Amino acid sequence: MSEAPLYSALLKLAGEERLRFHMPGHKGRKASLGLLGDAAFIDYTELPQTGNLYEGNGPINEAERLAAEFYGASNCAFLTGGSTQGITAAMYSACRPGSKIILDRNCHRCVINACGLMDLDPSYIYPPLSGESSVTECITPEAVLEKVQSVPEAVAVVVTSPTYYGAAADIGRISEIVHNAGMKLIVDEAHGAHFPALGIKNAVLSGADISVCSAHKTLPALGQSAFLFSNSSFAKSELSFAASIFGTSSPSYPILASIDLARAYLCAEGGERYRKATAYVSEVMDAFQKNTAFRIPRFKMRDPCRLTVETFQAGLSGLFTAERLREDYKIDCEMADYYNIVFIVTCEDGKEKMDALYNSMYSVWKGYGGEPLPIESQPVPRPEKSLSPRVAMLSKKVKVGLKDAEGMTAAQPQAIYPPGIPVIMPGELIDRLCIEYLIHRGYNDNKEVYVVKD
Ligand SMILES: Cc1ncc(COP(=O)(O)O)c(C=O)c1O
Repeated sequence: MSEAPLYSALLKLAGEERLRFHMPGHKGRKASLGLLGDAAFIDYTELPQTGNLYEGNGPINEAERLAAEFYGASNCAFLTGGSTQGITAAMYSACRPGSKIILDRNCHRCVINACGLMDLDPSYIYPPLSGESSVTECITPEAVLEKVQSVPEAVAVVVTSPTYYGAAADIGRISEIVHNAGMKLIVDEAHGAHFPALGIKNAVLSGADISVCSAHKTLPALGQSAFLFSNSSFAKSELSFAASIFGTSSPSYPILASIDLARAYLCAEGGERYRKATAYVSEVMDAFQKNTAFRIPRFKMRDPCRLTVETFQAGLSGLFTAERLREDYKIDCEMADYYNIVFIVTCEDGKEKMDALYNSMYSVWKGYGGEPLPIESQPVPRPEKSLSPRVAMLSKKVKVGLKDAEGMTAAQPQAIYPPGIPVIMPGELIDRLCIEYLIHRGYNDNKEVYVVKD
């Protein structure tokens, strides 16, 4: 393992005989914390010896510097509020109140929430479906070019890459287009923290101004841990200040130390373990294609560690497949939808686990598989904007049945998976097409949605 300065500083401090008259209240004692007791040992607060996250000093600063170096970024800020905090901070840094912004419609809900918080005016790029598949590709450079030309006053573009399903975008070409248009590029790389371990050029190295990676999604790190990276267009102090606005003033040191450890692990043996994991994923994909009716979506560019399996081709819904894996084989997936099942594979998944996954999926197919399920070809509706996201989100709201919502303005996003594109965003007018689309795609028609109260 290479150097992990923050973790080492916390261990050193915890090993000294000191009286802790500061937060957290457990004072480093295991007593009431059960299995969490070991984490209490290094669970500190801002002290000169530990450093202050948002002021960027002490061993935290050194750990962030090493992470920036490893990821090829000019700056890095550690986050304890997940990519949600990082994306909000990134949009805050790149935009002013009322700015126009171009968003990949394939975006996480934190992106639209940030628009509401900062009164940004979004314009969307709808991603295409991947071939015959039910899931979306990433947005293309051509679509970005068309959009920056039609909204030249936008100040930034937000792209999701890689996606939950494992599609990746051509960030290099997109960044050229965005920069030629005088805009900033923010990449939601929440699912791509492991890319450098595989020698894949990450977003900042490909030209993004800011990128955000969840350490906790694909690295061996604690829940909520994430990185905020920038190139030289945003100073470290700007990142830290923005992160402080949207984060707790008492960040968790075990979470911060786990980011430091995960980076150190990637620098050492982690790289080899990820390379092995991708080889297992590709073996399992080949075996599904060859020996079963399960299919693998053919993305133009993909995350080689993400295992997305189209179950509908084998006559099984992803939801049913997930239930059988859970109930009969004690295997829990990351996500399932009507058409697919998604497994997150990391350095922690060896051959034995991948074989167990393959064998269980094979048995589910043998036991229950059949003719392909019909695939929905109706395009995702593109509802009209009625209010800004901010006005819609901050207005008085009322819950109504989806079927009765026609003509009303949404106060919250409504998304179904796949393809992963929110059908309705806050501020958009709920029309008949949206309602029919949602109901047709298996959305419960008794479902209630928040709409703006007149
Ligand atoms: C594409 C994408 N972006 C951002 C997020 C938010 O990440 P976090 O849970 O780390 O806040 C998620 C969460 O699933 C996501 O899938």
